[in-house]
Amino acid sequence: MIRDLFEEDMRDVRLAPGAMLLSGFARRFEAPCVTALRRVVAVAPFRHMVTPGGHRMSIAMTNCGAAGWVTDRTGYRYDSHDPQTGRRWPAMPDVFADLAAQAAARAGFDGFAPDACLINRYEPGARLSLHQDKNERDFSAPIVSVSLGLPAVFLLGGLRRADTPRRVPLVHGDVVVWGGPARLRYHGVLPLEAGHHLLMGGHRINLTFRRAA
Ligand code: SIN
Ligand code: FE2
Repeated sequence: MIRDLFEEDMRDVRLAPGAMLLSGFARRFEAPCVTALRRVVAVAPFRHMVTPGGHRMSIAMTNCGAAGWVTDRTGYRYDSHDPQTGRRWPAMPDVFADLAAQAAARAGFDGFAPDACLINRYEPGARLSLHQDKNERDFSAPIVSVSLGLPAVFLLGGLRRADTPRRVPLVHGDVVVWGGPARLRYHGVLPLEAGHHLLMGGHRINLTFRRAA
């Protein structure tokens, strides 16, 4: 079984109550994930969105699933349609939904059915400042965050912005899940270091699964 090949690389680390790092968990989904990603991006290309404050984000983004996260001068929101094309976001590929549900279950959150997958593409220097995910309607579902491509340092903060974040190095195939008491923890990503990854070239790709509606 393919899974056994990767088993030795799989390690679960409890980061905080309700927050887990599942090392290498996504690796056995890697090939179908890359195919699915290509299909999504062909319909809904990566773009640099603008924050309500007028800043162009250093991360390029797109979405799949019923609800896509967008930002523009009017604010942050979930939208069923891609504002750039006027079309619905591409459907959530089955492999994405399966990966997210299995990772959530492994971290203690059964029955996770995400309706939103934000796809972030980091190039060297791209970063994500500390923030809370709070545009979702209810916070009972966890966040599942899948890392592909170049390594990055994830920051897991506390429930207050001023809490010193823990630095969590992430590599290709790692999954971080946070929910329950950790659902509203601040988090972010340090500026990406340049490098080359066999599958993703000079980029890091992050899939963030959420229950938005
Ligand atoms: C996010 O907070 O939306 C993304 C986190 C990451 O890229 O790891
Ligand atoms: Fe986030």
